[in-house]
Amino acid sequence: MKQKIILDVDTGFDDAVALLLAGHHPALELAAVTVCHGNAPLAVTVENTRRVLAAGGLGHVPVYAGAERALVAPPLKTDPLQHHRFDLPPAARPLERQRAAEFLIDYYLSPAGPETVLVPLAPQTNLALALRLEPRLAERCPRLVTMAGAYLEGNSTPSAEFNILADPEAAHIVFTAGWPLTMVGLEVTAQAYVTPADLARLRALGTPWAALAADIFEPHLRWWQTEMNWPGGQIYDACAVAAVVDPALLTTKPMHVDIELGGAFTRGRTVADAIGWHRQPANVDVGVGLDRERFLAVLLAGLQ
Ligand code: BDR
Ligand code: CA
Repeated sequence: MKQKIILDVDTGFDDAVALLLAGHHPALELAAVTVCHGNAPLAVTVENTRRVLAAGGLGHVPVYAGAERALVAPPLKTDPLQHHRFDLPPAARPLERQRAAEFLIDYYLSPAGPETVLVPLAPQTNLALALRLEPRLAERCPRLVTMAGAYLEGNSTPSAEFNILADPEAAHIVFTAGWPLTMVGLEVTAQAYVTPADLARLRALGTPWAALAADIFEPHLRWWQTEMNWPGGQIYDACAVAAVVDPALLTTKPMHVDIELGGAFTRGRTVADAIGWHRQPANVDVGVGLDRERFLAVLLAGLQ
């Protein structure tokens, strides 16, 4: 039986690849998509989500718009490469009328809820709003696999990863809700770099969704090579989806993780008791290792 999955996204080049992977991998059933502010203002992230789904042969998937702003934090400056609407035709399917938080509550209280893994790939505002409205969400959702955080070094600041820093108060609500939470952070997404040779393998699959994923990722791959001198680029959000398909590609360690809400230099940090010296109860399974070949195998199998 296919694993039901819901993605919360801020599309975003890597969210786009994650959507195509979740929608086409034979082991998954993409039940719905909720959208948050993040890489760009909500109007752009919603439009990009709908266009990617439509162009990627997933026009049947319902899309719910969520929060326009973080709970408290001001909007972050984001990568200008991410600000434009994708050059793809508008979607035919209308946006759902219900807002993301209300949809998540209704869905997870329905019989399908306990069978559906939630995959947050954006600032966690929609989830926090839903949890505050309906705390039973944390009992009904069987598992979250989130691309968020870093237990060593962030990308928005040396302390903080983008999805957490964009709404630390929301992340605090999500990380303390008591549900089974797997963190796919920057230490493991960095191990899943995708090289030009991998991109060529993706294109060679010959499907419209593989071509779309490759077209969207390629300028970012160039950025990773020229600006960062890396052998390949990260498709952060696709790593979380791949870890739902094949949990063995991710090595995890249970840790106590707090979200830093103050701090002159450390706001938004996922403060992890990584070695376990402090003997606090673990609330997160933190990704500490990723098998790149297994990740690529899932990506290629999903987009073929
Ligand atoms: C995360 O932040 C966003 O820019 C990406 O889409 C990803 O979810 C990486 O830090
Ligand atoms: Ca994202």
